[in-house]
Amino acid sequence: MGFQKNFPLRHFSCFLAARGKNPRPKTMANKDQTDTNRMEKIVSLCKRKGFIFQSAEIYGGLNGCWDYGPLGAEVKRNLKDLWWRKNVLERDDILGLDGSILTHQAVLSASGHVGGFSDPMCDCLLTKARLRADQIEPQSGIAYHFTGASHEESGWSVDRAYSVLLNQPNQDENKARKTAREFYAQFLTDKQIPAKRLILVGESTSEEKEVTHYNPENGSLLTEPRDFELMFKTQMGASADDNDPNATAYLRPETAQSIFVQYKNVMDSNRVKLPFGIAQIGKAFRNEINPRNFTFRSREFEQMEIEYFCRPEDGLRLTDEWLANRLAFYDEIGLKKEKLHVLDIPDGERAHYSQKTYDIEYDFPFGQQELEGVAYRGDYDLGKHKEHSGKPLEYFDEQTKERFIPHVVEPSAGCDRTILALICEAFDEEDLTKEGGKQDIRTVMRFKPTIAPIKAAILPLLKNKPELVEKAREVKNLLQPFMNVFYDETAAIGRRYRRQDEVGTPFCIAIDFETMGLEEGKEDLKDTVTIRHRDSMKQERVAISELLPWLLERIH
Ligand code: GAP
Repeated sequence: MGFQKNFPLRHFSCFLAARGKNPRPKTMANKDQTDTNRMEKIVSLCKRKGFIFQSAEIYGGLNGCWDYGPLGAEVKRNLKDLWWRKNVLERDDILGLDGSILTHQAVLSASGHVGGFSDPMCDCLLTKARLRADQIEPQSGIAYHFTGASHEESGWSVDRAYSVLLNQPNQDENKARKTAREFYAQFLTDKQIPAKRLILVGESTSEEKEVTHYNPENGSLLTEPRDFELMFKTQMGASADDNDPNATAYLRPETAQSIFVQYKNVMDSNRVKLPFGIAQIGKAFRNEINPRNFTFRSREFEQMEIEYFCRPEDGLRLTDEWLANRLAFYDEIGLKKEKLHVLDIPDGERAHYSQKTYDIEYDFPFGQQELEGVAYRGDYDLGKHKEHSGKPLEYFDEQTKERFIPHVVEPSAGCDRTILALICEAFDEEDLTKEGGKQDIRTVMRFKPTIAPIKAAILPLLKNKPELVEKAREVKNLLQPFMNVFYDETAAIGRRYRRQDEVGTPFCIAIDFETMGLEEGKEDLKDTVTIRHRDSMKQERVAISELLPWLLERIH
C-alpha cells in the first residue's frame, strides 16, 4: 500500500467558507516527519495482529472503508469509553445523545450541506486521474496547443483542442508532442495504430504564469472543475420516488446536526441551564474523493463531538478552555505533547460565522495532520435551524428574563484518526541485540494500559503440568469479569511475552512452580504470580489475592 507523503487538509466545519473564491490554502504535511517505511510496518502489523482490516478484502476491498478486528475493536471501545467518561459521566454540564444516521434532507438543507458540501474536482484528460481543483499548485511554463490529430495511411482524424504545459526550463518540446499524441490516440478506432504515427494539427504555443489547469504530474490539460457531492444520498420507503424530496435522506456527514436539531428536546426534557453541552459518538459518512493514508481519510468513520451551548459573551473564553481540555485528553491517552500542534486558524480561512477555530494536529508518520477541530460557531447552526424549521429555538434565561439563541463551541474529534494516532504513537521497535549476538528486534506496542486492547495475559509456565494450568485458569476466571484478559499456554514463555508485546499487553502474569509453592526454599511465594511489565521487561511478584486491585489501579 502506498502512502501519500503530504496532502492538504479540508475542513468540514468551514467548508462553506473554503469553497468558491476563498479556497482554504493547502497545509502541506511536514515532509521531514514522513516515514513511509514505518507506516507500512504499522499497516502490516494492524492486519497481522487483527487490529484493522480492509473492508471486504476478499472481494478486492471497499475503498475508504475499514473493519476493526478483535484487537482494534477493543482499542476503539476503550477510547470511546474514556471519552464518554471524561466528557459525559464525570461532568454535570454535559448530556449524551445517540442520533440517527439517516438524516432528513431538511436538516442538511438548513445546515447548508445540501448543495453546499462538495469539492471542486477536475480530471486529467490524459490519465483520467481526478484532482481537487483547489489543491493544484500553480505552475508556469510554455503551453503547447493543438487543434487535433490525423493518421495519413488510414485517413483517420480528430478535431479537438488539447494542450500540454512544459513547466521546466529548457524542456524538450517533443515531450509535449508525445503527450499530445498519447491523448489523441485515445480516440483511435483502430487500436493497432501506434500513437507515435499520429500527425499533430494546428500547433501553437503560449507563455503561462501561475496557472492551475494542467496536471502537475504530466502537464496534460485538465477538465473544467465540477462540484463533486460528498454526501451519501438514499431513498426511504418501499415506494420511494427518485424525484420525491420527502423520500430522500442522507447518511449524516457529521454527528453535529442531530445535536443542534435535538437541542431543544434535550434542554426541555432535562431542565438544563447554560452553559451546557450535548455529546455524541457515532458514525459519519463522506464520499471522499481520495480516501488515503490507511484509516486517516475514510468514507465511513466515527466522530466524537460536543456542542457546548453558552451565552455569547462566554464563547471565546470557552473555546480556549475546550482547547486546553482536549489537549489534556490527548496527553492522558498517551499522545506525546511534542507531537501535537495547535493551529490558530487565521481570519479568512475560518468559516464566516466562526470567530475562532483551532486545529489540533498530530505528527503521523505521513506528516502533520488534523486530529480534531475546536470551533466557536456562534449562533449560526441554531439560527439556521430556527429559520428553516420555523420553530422557536431560543433559550430563556429565568434570571435575566432574556430570550436568545445560545452560542456554540464545538470540539469535534475523529475517533478513527485518534486510534490511528494511538497506534502510530505506540509502535516501537526496540533493538535488544547483544554485542556480537544475533540481531534481536522487539516489536512493542506501547499503549497506555487504559487504551491497550488486552490488559493482562495469563501464562502458565508449562502446559503439560495440570496443576499450573488449573491455577492459571483460576486466575483467568478471577480477572475476566473485570477486564479483557488473554490466556495462552502455547510456546516457550519468552515467545509468549514477545507476542503480547506486539499487541501492547501491559502486564503478563506467569503462573510458575513458585505459585504452587513447589520450589524449595521459596515456599513463601506460594499463591503469588510473576508479573512481567511490557515496557521495562522487569518482573515482580504479586499475591493472587492482591492481583485484581493491583491491576484495576493500573488499567483505569
Ligand atoms: N462538526 C464539525 C466537523 O465535522 P470536521 O473538521 O469536518 O468538522 C471533525 O471533522 C473531525 O472528524 C476531523 O478533525 C477528523 O478527526 C474527523 N474526520 C473528518 N473527516 C474524516 C474522514 N474522512 N475520515 C476520518 N476522519 C475524519
